Formats: sequence, C-alpha cells, structure tokens
Amino acid sequence: MEVLRQRRSPKAPADHNKAPSDFMKTIAVYNLKGGVGKTATAVNIAYLSACSGQPTLLWDFDAQAAASWYFQVENSKRKKASKLIKDKLALGELIQGTGYDRLDIIPSDMSNRNIDVNLTGVSGGKLDSWLSMLSETYGVLVLDCPPTLSELALRILKAADAVLITMIPTHLSFETYRHVTEMMEQKKIDLAKLYPVLTMIDRRKSIHQEFTASCKKTLGKTPIGFVPYCSDVEKMGEFREPLPVFAPRSPATLAYQLLWDNIRKKALRRR
Ligand SMILES: Nc1ncnc2c1ncn2[C@@H]1O[C@H](COP(=O)(O)OP(=O)(O)OP(=O)(O)O)[C@@H](O)[C@H]1O
Ligand SMILES: [Mg+2]
Repeated sequence: MEVLRQRRSPKAPADHNKAPSDFMKTIAVYNLKGGVGKTATAVNIAYLSACSGQPTLLWDFDAQAAASWYFQVENSKRKKASKLIKDKLALGELIQGTGYDRLDIIPSDMSNRNIDVNLTGVSGGKLDSWLSMLSETYGVLVLDCPPTLSELALRILKAADAVLITMIPTHLSFETYRHVTEMMEQKKIDLAKLYPVLTMIDRRKSIHQEFTASCKKTLGKTPIGFVPYCSDVEKMGEFREPLPVFAPRSPATLAYQLLWDNIRKKALRRR
C-alpha cells in the first residue's frame, strides 16, 4: 500500500487529472444506528481510495461534522453547508483540500442539521446534478451519512453505487440492518448494492464471535469487511489523521485496507 504520509498544509482543493470518460463511483457509509463506526470507515476508505490513485472526495453530510474534524477542516461562516441547498452557494465553493494528495472534502457544519427539512420539496434531481458535476473531477465519492432515516438518507441510498452498512455484531445491530433492508425494499432500491461491514469486533466476546460466524445466515449476505475493536481507531481523534497515516501496521489499518480492496473488487466492479 502506498501511504501518503506527507500532508500538504494549504486547504485548497487539489488539481486532479481525471479523464472525463471515467465514471465516478459513489459509496455511501450509512446506518440509522449511531456510533457504529460509519465516520471512521468513511474517513479511512476515502484516504485509501486516494492512496490507490483515485481522485477522491469525502462529503460529510453529518451535522456533527466528525469527518471534517478528523481532517482538521471546517466551513467558514460565509460558506455554510445549508446555503448549497438554498442555491446561495455553488457546490465547488464548499470543496476544500485535506492536505493529502488526491483527497478533497466537503465539510459539514451545524447548518446541515436541517438538511432534511430543506431537502423536502427540492427535486430529487438536485442530488443527481451535484453528483454529475462532481463526476467530472472525482473517481470516487464517499458519503459519510448521519444516523437518520430521512429524506436525505433515501436519496443517498438511491443514488449510491454501493452502500456500506457498518454494524457492531450484536442483536440490535442486526435488527437495525433488517429495518434498513425493509425500507430499501419499500422504496424499490436495489438491495444488491447493500454491503454489511462488521466493526468493533471484539473476539474476546462470545456474542461477537457467534454473530461474526453466523452473520451470513442472519443477514443473508457475507459482510464485505471485518474491522476489529482496536484502540488505534480511537487515536484518530488524538492525531486527527486517517489511521494508515499514523498507524500503518495496526490490525485495524489492515482491516480497512482489505475492506477497500473488497469494495473495489466486489462492490464497484459490478456496476
Ligand atoms: N474499530 C474500532 N475500534 C475501536 N473504536 C472504534 C472503532 N471504530 C470506531 N471506533 C470509535 O467508536 C466511536 C464511534 O465511531 P464513529 O464516530 O466512526 O461512529 P459513527 O457511526 O460515525 O457515529 P455517529 O452515528 O455518531 O456519526 C468513535 O469514538 C470511534 O473512535
Ligand atoms: Mg459519524
């Protein structure tokens, strides 16, 4: 794995050389349950995507702005995320560099907390037109979604090429997964693009062992990734960097690398 250790200081978006004919792949990281490793997954796979040579954009849709915080990026007062929906700001004005090669971010802020209210009544084509604009520059778009079952979530689930559902191997997580699949079925969203990712797996816990072993039967799908419980992931908050940058040999880095390889091979190739 080529690890981009050198971080550039300025926050201007990078100048990417993407051939216009390459289609952009959109990966949403979602679960309506909170605290299940969505942001950690979105940040690390976006970074690994950029390392693999793809011009990559991470779009932070969560008003908690955790992904933006990990990259030490924030919106200025003039450039609040909500202005995009009200057409008071062009999409390009929200894009910032992360300091890592080939990796940009659209940060979030508290104004995103009303994004669902603001989206209601806005045509579904709006998200599509943003994605089509971004596809001129980026090969991969990673969306870090808030833990809500909302208008925004539905539109993202519809538009994405792959939806990673991160979950801790417990009864409640599997129940939530079932709710997500039911909701997608109701809305006629293709379930084939749904990929479970087990996170925070603690092999000392028998319940985690049991669920990890039996999840194919329980979920009807083999998870596309298995991320162990590992204190290095928590240190992302201390270093405010993606995990592979400061802990390249961590078992969790390896797990995210395997996840990214699987996403490329299984989730993105089929579409
Ligand atoms: N594999 C892991 N091992 C240990 N801790 C982890 C792991 N993955 C995530 N965490 C920690 O768990 C907490 C929640 O993770 P994260 O913020 O990624 O979840 P989330 O689903 O995005 O939460 P929210 O729904 O609030 O947005 C964080 O403190 C993070 O550092
Ligand atoms: Mg999050």
